[in-house]
Parts: sequence; structure tokens; C-alpha cells
Amino acid sequence: TKRIGVLTAGGDCPGLNAAIRGVGKTAQGTYDMRVLGFRDGFRGLVENRVVDLDRAKLSGILTIGGTILGTSRDKPHKMRVDGRNVDMTDVIVRNYAANHLDALVCLGGGGTQKNALVLQEHGLNVITLPKTIDNDVGLTDVSFGFDTALGIATDAIDRLHSTAHSHHRIIVVEIMGHRSGWLALGAGMAGGADVILLPEIPYDIQAVAKAVTDRVRYGLNFSIVAVAEGAMSMQDAARVQDYQQRIALAQERGDRKARKKAKAELKAFEASGADQHTLRLARQLEALTGLESRPTILGHLQRGGTPSAADRLLATRLGSVCADLIDAGHYGVMVAARGDSAEPVPLEQVAGNKKLVPPDHPWVKSAKNVGICLGVGV
Ligand code: F6P
Repeated sequence: TKRIGVLTAGGDCPGLNAAIRGVGKTAQGTYDMRVLGFRDGFRGLVENRVVDLDRAKLSGILTIGGTILGTSRDKPHKMRVDGRNVDMTDVIVRNYAANHLDALVCLGGGGTQKNALVLQEHGLNVITLPKTIDNDVGLTDVSFGFDTALGIATDAIDRLHSTAHSHHRIIVVEIMGHRSGWLALGAGMAGGADVILLPEIPYDIQAVAKAVTDRVRYGLNFSIVAVAEGAMSMQDAARVQDYQQRIALAQERGDRKARKKAKAELKAFEASGADQHTLRLARQLEALTGLESRPTILGHLQRGGTPSAADRLLATRLGSVCADLIDAGHYGVMVAARGDSAEPVPLEQVAGNKKLVPPDHPWVKSAKNVGICLGVGV
């Protein structure tokens, strides 16, 4: 009988419990494996906080949001212990052995894929599933969590339309997605936003203001601006590029001090006012267009609650194929969604492979075709 461990790491998202259930029920029911869960991501594995995921624990969780195991953003190689960052990889390797595990299943986003690869390189049999509302994990068509968040953000835009048109206002709505624009683009298109700003396409504030005032000329004296949390103006994007060039040059020269300095400056620049970006944008647009403007930040609402049918289905499919792969002894892979099937992709190829919106993506083209301003020359 194989023994497998399961953990959820990174931000919570809808569909995690459906995936735990998909892995667990297939592992138990079809392959007679023993399924253990670790609490709060990699931290639970370090602290050996284990729970037996028996039939009763896996029942009734399909529709529940979040994760029954709890989660954290702790990394194996950089874990906060007594106020210091400590590499706990060896402790994880020991606890994996102490629990007599044959495989470890890590449910997570981009960061988790990298951490999983490191553990695989330390001799563990690791297999991952892609979860994130951001949809930015590479080499999978889609990640679970995205569809639910897309539905919530679209519903929010629908509702914001009421105030926008009744009060003749601009509503600037901030949508999550980390550094990718999938959620803002998808929800913006589905919710009928007039402007969509993405991290992948730095915006020109004058072009945005023009799109809004052009609408006023047609008697449409309101606008919805959907802005991805990682979106940047052309000026800010140019500064970020400068920092990145400095980092790359310092790296080339082998100048660790200069590299560290440039990295710290970039971090400080990104942090400065990132949380104020949407508010600032609303104020700028009010000043440039003369229309009253209000910011709305959707925040963690987008990650909460019951998963959509599509996410339940995806998480169940990927989870069950994950157990098939464990039975076959196929490790070191992420179970990726490919059309109607699920396929293993080597972790080496997935780790660090962030999927951004290509500026020539069909969604972008359709958005332009229906007259949505993407923040550049109109
Ligand atoms: O990755 C999911 C996500 O919700 C991102 O969209 C967002 O940038 C981030 O997590 C927020 O993280 P936290 O919940 O830790 O503040």
C-alpha cells in the first residue's frame, strides 16, 4: 500500500478542496493508498502536523471554498523560525521519510511549483497540481480557481455598471492577478468594461482619458475601467525596465553588491504606492475628463466562496489523474490541463515558467475589435 502526503501552499483559492478530494478518493478507492494531509503548506511538513485524510474527512468538501488543510506562503528553503529565515529543506526530507511517504502532492501556484522542484531534487517523489486565480502557471491550459474568480469579478463589474451609468461616473475597478492580466482581461471583457489595463501592456493615461471622453461625445457619460493589480503606466514600466537592466548588468559583472542594491530599489519602487495605484488612477482620470470617478478594489472577495462547476470539474479531473500517476510511479511532474485530458509536465519545465498575456493573444484582439481601450493609442 502506497502512502501519500498532500499539502496546499500559497494563497487559498476555490477548488482546492475539490482537488484534495479528487486525489484522495481516487488514491483510496481505486488504488487502496493511505492519504495523509499536512497543515498550512510546507510549514506543516516541517512541523510534522499531519492529519489522516480518511473517507470521512474527504466527504462533503467538494463545494467548500478555501482549503480544509490550511495554507501558507512559507517556502521550504526560507522559513521564518524565531524571527530568522532558515532553510528547512532537510527537516522536510526527514519528515517525509518518517511518515514513510511514497509521494508528496503539492497543490499550488507558481511559487509552489519551484519549491516542489527543489524537493524533488532532494530525493522526494513530488507531484503537483496547478491552482491559482491568476491563471499564470505555464504549460497548463488553465489552473483551477481561475474560472470561479472570473465569475466573481465579472459579477462585480456587472453590479458596478449600475452606479456608473446612474451617476455618470468613471468606476475604476481593481482586479487581482499578481503580475498577469488574465483575470482583468477575462472579467473586463465578460463584464463589458470600456477600458482594460494589464501589466503586459503598459498604459498611457492620455489614451485612457481620451477613450472615456470619446464615449461622452457619443452620449455615454460613464465608463468602467478594469485595472489589473499589476498594471503600470508607460513611465513606471520604463523605470522598472531600468532597474531590471541594472540588475542584469550587475549580474553579468558578478557585482553582487550592485545587484542587491538595484534589486532592493526595484522592490521599494514597486511597493511604493502600489496599493494606491487604483486610487491615483481614479483621481487622474477625474482631473483629465471632468467626470466624477470612484475606485473599487475587489481584493480577496475574488478568492472566496464555493468553486464554480468548471473549477470543481477541473480540480476533480486533475486530482484523479494525479493519483493515477502516483500509482504508475510517475513523479517530478505537474498534472497539466490539456483540452479534455490531463497530462504530466516535468517540474523543470514548469518551475519559473510564468504565463503572461501575450499582447497578440486572441482575447486581446477581440477586446480591441469590440472597441475596448487597452490603454494605448486609440
Ligand atoms: O495569487 C493569488 C493572489 O490572490 C494574487 O492575485 C494576489 O496578488 C495575491 O494572491 C495576494 O496575496 P495575499 O493573499 O497573500 O495578500
